[in-house]
Amino acid sequence: MISKDTINEIFETARIEEVIGEFVNLKRRGVNYLGLCPFHNEKTPSFTVSPAKNIYKCFGCGKAGNVVNFLMEHEHYTYVEALKYLAKKYNIEIEETEQTPEQRQVLDEKEVLYNISRFAQKHFTDNLFNTEQGKAIALTYFKERDFDINTIKKFQLGYCLKEWDDFTKAALKNAYKIETLIKSGFTINKNGKYYDRFRERVMFPIHSMSGRIVGFGGRILTSDKTKPKYVNTPESEIYHKSNVLYGIYFAKNAIRNKDNCYLVEGYTDVISLYQAGIENVVASSGTSLTNEQIRAIKRFTQNITILYDGDTAGIKASFRGINMILEQGMNVKIVLFPEGEDPDSFTRKNKNNPDNVVNFINDNSLDFIKFKTNLLLKDTKNDPIKKASLIKDIVNTISVIPDEITRSIYVKECAVLLDIQEKVLYDEIFRILKNNYYKKKKISDNAAVRLKKEKSSVDESKVYKTTDIYLHEREIIRLLLNYGKEKIYFRERTKYGVKTTTYFTADYIVRDLRENEIEFQDAVCKAIYDEYVSANENEIIPNTDYFINHNDKDIQKLSIDLLSEAYELSDNWKKKHRIYVDTELNKLKDIVLNTMLAFKSQKLKIMINEIEKKIKDIEKEETLKSTEKEEKLNILMQQLKLIQDKYSEINSGLGRVII
Ligand code: CTP
Ligand code: MN
Repeated sequence: MISKDTINEIFETARIEEVIGEFVNLKRRGVNYLGLCPFHNEKTPSFTVSPAKNIYKCFGCGKAGNVVNFLMEHEHYTYVEALKYLAKKYNIEIEETEQTPEQRQVLDEKEVLYNISRFAQKHFTDNLFNTEQGKAIALTYFKERDFDINTIKKFQLGYCLKEWDDFTKAALKNAYKIETLIKSGFTINKNGKYYDRFRERVMFPIHSMSGRIVGFGGRILTSDKTKPKYVNTPESEIYHKSNVLYGIYFAKNAIRNKDNCYLVEGYTDVISLYQAGIENVVASSGTSLTNEQIRAIKRFTQNITILYDGDTAGIKASFRGINMILEQGMNVKIVLFPEGEDPDSFTRKNKNNPDNVVNFINDNSLDFIKFKTNLLLKDTKNDPIKKASLIKDIVNTISVIPDEITRSIYVKECAVLLDIQEKVLYDEIFRILKNNYYKKKKISDNAAVRLKKEKSSVDESKVYKTTDIYLHEREIIRLLLNYGKEKIYFRERTKYGVKTTTYFTADYIVRDLRENEIEFQDAVCKAIYDEYVSANENEIIPNTDYFINHNDKDIQKLSIDLLSEAYELSDNWKKKHRIYVDTELNKLKDIVLNTMLAFKSQKLKIMINEIEKKIKDIEKEETLKSTEKEEKLNILMQQLKLIQDKYSEINSGLGRVII
């Protein structure tokens, strides 16, 4: 059985929108998320996830519950399986109170490893304080490094004696098996002779998130360049180097409270900062930062400040880290220490004035744009080639940020700092996103093929060109191309007061049409519209350049027409709808609304006519059995009702209160 504490931790940690988001495509809608319900068939999303309430509810079929219910319902997990799934996803160790024999077996093996690690820590600490060698060599060493006794005890530091097999012998005497000793990495077997991996090293135990010891780092005491400075526990069932964050157990509360996590490179950096009162600090411990490590931090805060050495290796490492952190939707700042200093040595230099350390960090934390600009543009302010490559570098980094609003803030800053137009930056970002997107989905070519197919099969598309519906479709595309990136504001009177909502025109149009399940008939309009739909799924708005330079000639021609002759082209149409050219941008919202309403209404009218025709045909049909007939009619009537409801809703929408 999973312990109550673990269950609580799982419920506290799991984010319902993240968990469900792996199975359902969710879109943000105000404070909630909305998607197509996975439990019944629907075309208009009514499945709502509320992160604030930690629940989901489908307003279509009525299914509702919490994060565990979702997994049980959707994945057919048992309660325990659902909990385990979440524990794994969020790196939570499961404390079990009772297990099946098979679970027991696996757990026993792990348990033995945890057990021997704990035993080792006690043994090493005992060596440090209670042996002549430990006191003379290791304790002196720590004191020279200005670690005080409380710190040494808190971090459970220790010492492995300068003997071949002191620890191995002690463990065997305590009934640990030699296989366990080898598996856990404490003992090395060399041609049948056993010796201690960590001999003559000071020991830094590495704790898991919940405080269990999973491994050790052992530091050499001399400056013997022929031996590695640190020796670490090898990978085992409980020690996975890429998951470990040194210090996380001691830091996690402070990280939550300060809503920020300092990320350093080494064991001693963590310990020195902690001792100086900066407790929200963890180390990646020599490995380059991993996504698992970042996710572990994300459980407690969205903010990471990287504190690395000012040497080239440190700078390179921070460059890699920045992109990984941003990619996970987190915020990152960087502090470079003066060359030759790491956070540990800098803290020791200021040991009589610990405020200096905090002040230094505060004064020198830079966002990634300033950091990169300072660093790369130092001596080359006027070199256009260097500047261009810096801008490319920064734009690349901005493009990994998943949130559009955050991206736009950085674009603004970059534009000001490097004196370049925002539009240029957006164009480049859009190009990168688009490339990545197509690389990922490989739909670039498929789209062209699809378009060709559609064109040959629906060649009566020419018919539409003379009808009103084609003009409507064209008008929608014109609005998308000309005003897609303009914002429209809605102020709506609700019973709680006036509410303002802002949309990009493109988002508004795409959303509205998708909600009403409206498709384009004209193949070229449809191809352009589909680009807006797939871009919308990636929270971007296509650049008109993309269409103007499209390799499909029809797309190219239509978009150029619509962009250049915008006003004249649909003048008649606009007069009919009482919209006037000179005020088009000023009246954008009215134009969009009226166009959409007219378009939807017309589309729905066509759908209604089609269904009514089908109904008539079936009624006339004589070969059908009456039950079959009834069944078919029933379905059609239902469809008809749905569309008619929508139709009248839309037409009444013309009179909606919009200020
Ligand atoms: N490291 C390692 N193996 C090495 C060298 C380094 O695992 N051979 C890891 C350790 O986790 C170390 C971190 O990388 O803490 C940073 O290395 P370094 O800056 O060389 O060590 P410091 O932590 O600064 O240690 P010290 O101050 O004692 O030199
Ligand atoms: Mn150091």
